[in-house]
Amino acid sequence: MTSDISVPEIPAARPVTHVPPVVEEVLAPGEQDVLTERIKALLVERDAVLVAHYYTSGALQKLAEETGGCVSDSLEMARFGHAAKAKTLVVAGVRFMGETAKILNPEKRVLMPDPRAECSLDLSCPADAFSAFCDAHPDRVVVVYANTSAAVKARADWMVTSSIAVQVVAHLHALGKKLIWAPDRYLGDYVQKITGADMLLWQGSCVVHEKFKAEGIRALKAQYADAAVLVHPESPASVIALADVVGSTTQLIRAAAELPQQTLIVATDNGIFHKMHLVTPGKTLLEAPTGGAGATCVSCAHCPWMAMNGLRGLLHVLESGDNEIHVDPGIGRRAVVAINRMLQFAGQTGVTVAGMSGD
Ligand code: 13P
Ligand code: SF4
Repeated sequence: MTSDISVPEIPAARPVTHVPPVVEEVLAPGEQDVLTERIKALLVERDAVLVAHYYTSGALQKLAEETGGCVSDSLEMARFGHAAKAKTLVVAGVRFMGETAKILNPEKRVLMPDPRAECSLDLSCPADAFSAFCDAHPDRVVVVYANTSAAVKARADWMVTSSIAVQVVAHLHALGKKLIWAPDRYLGDYVQKITGADMLLWQGSCVVHEKFKAEGIRALKAQYADAAVLVHPESPASVIALADVVGSTTQLIRAAAELPQQTLIVATDNGIFHKMHLVTPGKTLLEAPTGGAGATCVSCAHCPWMAMNGLRGLLHVLESGDNEIHVDPGIGRRAVVAINRMLQFAGQTGVTVAGMSGD
């Protein structure tokens, strides 16, 4: 007997062929203090505010907080930049974060310390291929992760971040909607399992999170039986299956502070340890392994593109105005609809994910 049920095509993600090495900024003795003082003065002079992600260096995160800026996950970075009064937003993170800030604030100048700061998820999902995929499934609501280009967001009905993806998809599922999800297949799979929604998943992945290994975490758990496991949902399902807490960077930091366990195994970019240590005095924080014995890793739990953000680059853009982020106004006007849906939903449902103070 033949079946007339057509199986939807699973889209191939664009392979990310070049992942740069992780190069941390190395400063000469005393240079950090000199750069920091100059940057602080320029932030005031230029009416600028620094919005940083938790994966950037401790020096950048500290500077953002000391100058009235923000350190947070993608959702709160977007909300903070939108609410900020400053005329210039300096976004220390990767390009989609700068673009999101520009889309939400077309009248503001948005600068980034390094224009090469990409994201493998964004790179895996070119707008033309994604648009063709959406065209082939016109009956589906298009939900994209924040880690996408402005043009992909412009093709979407909703944009979500990891802190609110489950709630948004559950809401759409309850309305009887079938979805397209892009680009992270692991986050999509996680959200699909929790909500039961009908989702076609783009097959992108994060080069950092996909390297975490369940086997390595099990070995650590054997050594530290009382440890809790905290996992970012861009990780593979086998790793998520071992988690006590799954969440965005802000949600993981909050959980680290609140959990009773004194030892925590953390599967996300190790830039998160700067803030996590500040909010968990006395606790032992362990990096989840990215490979078994003798294995190599591409990123070794640190995003090579996030590492491109440094104090020298920050000073340079404040002095020169270089590395300004531009988004085509037509694309921006369409993309903002998808972003605003999420922000309004977050406001209505009370999803609070503000960054955590280190004090
Ligand atoms: P968060 O929104 O959880 O900070 O994640 C952003 C990201 O790029 C994680 O790799
Ligand atoms: Fe993208 Fe992964 Fe880097 Fe986050 S850690 S910015 S998802 S490549």
